[in-house]
Amino acid sequence: MKLFHDVSSVRNFTQKRKNEQKIGLVPTMGALHPGHLALLEASQKDNDQTICSIYVNPTQFNNPDDLKKYPRTLEGDLELLEKIGCDAVFCPTDQIMYPPDQPQLLHLDFGYLNEILEGQHRPGHFDGVGLVVTKLLNIVQPHRAYFGQKDLQQLTIIRQLVREFFIPVEITSVPIVREASGLALSSRNQRLSPEEKETAIQLYQTLLFAQKQYKAGTDLSTITQQARNRLNQDSGIQLEYFEAVRVHDFQLLEERTENQPIAFCVAAYVGDVRLIDNVLIN
Ligand code: PAJ
Repeated sequence: MKLFHDVSSVRNFTQKRKNEQKIGLVPTMGALHPGHLALLEASQKDNDQTICSIYVNPTQFNNPDDLKKYPRTLEGDLELLEKIGCDAVFCPTDQIMYPPDQPQLLHLDFGYLNEILEGQHRPGHFDGVGLVVTKLLNIVQPHRAYFGQKDLQQLTIIRQLVREFFIPVEITSVPIVREASGLALSSRNQRLSPEEKETAIQLYQTLLFAQKQYKAGTDLSTITQQARNRLNQDSGIQLEYFEAVRVHDFQLLEERTENQPIAFCVAAYVGDVRLIDNVLIN
């Protein structure tokens, strides 16, 4: 497995192979778990070469404490990547991604997507995600890039970015990988105590409740209100939002819409760990 730290070496790797081989990129912030591995597996299935990037991107953390506490397990991550047969890893430093001697003037603004759900609760988060994903796609120049449905709004942001800037890459989404309990895998789960983990299962349980209600024909605003009430009743959960959205453009929904994919999305703190999850319908 090749390990790259700088722009020119990883770009050379792609450029040398690009005409004969398909290259897949899986961007991550490390602390790899089976959710990330599902993305890598999808890339390995579709492509000749799979590159995983590991970079904890400071510009997407609106909370400095969250950035500080973000798990960093590079050695274990590299061992795991080697074991699954990943072809190359790109681990840049902050100096490479945000050169301190160059002014950083550009920032992205995703309009209404910045004002709802994750955008609203994490100001500046998507600007940072958009910036780093643009940098990664331009550095690596893969044919395909893989992102998880776990971060559904992030997926919408990235599709928008690729469309608006005509970035020549195919974006592939991969379903959420969960623990047997239903808890969506996340690097942040490492910070949950056993009791908090038990509490966190409520998020998925409530999403399933909403999904069932929707299939039974219940009115959408009734479902979201009941789901919020359920979560608010649990003293271990501090709910940020529970909403229904139309998947293709992330418009918030108040009423049922037939024949269009929708999703229920939730974000909540369990202890001091912020968790997000969603389920798709249709
Ligand atoms: P990170 O949180 O490390 O996630 C990397 C990728 O793994 C994302 O596309 C995310 O949606 C996916 N993922 C995480 N948990 C998953 C799960 N349980 N099932 C399936 N996929 C899962 O998302 C980021 O990093 C960053 O914002 C990044 C895109 C790398 C930009 O910095």
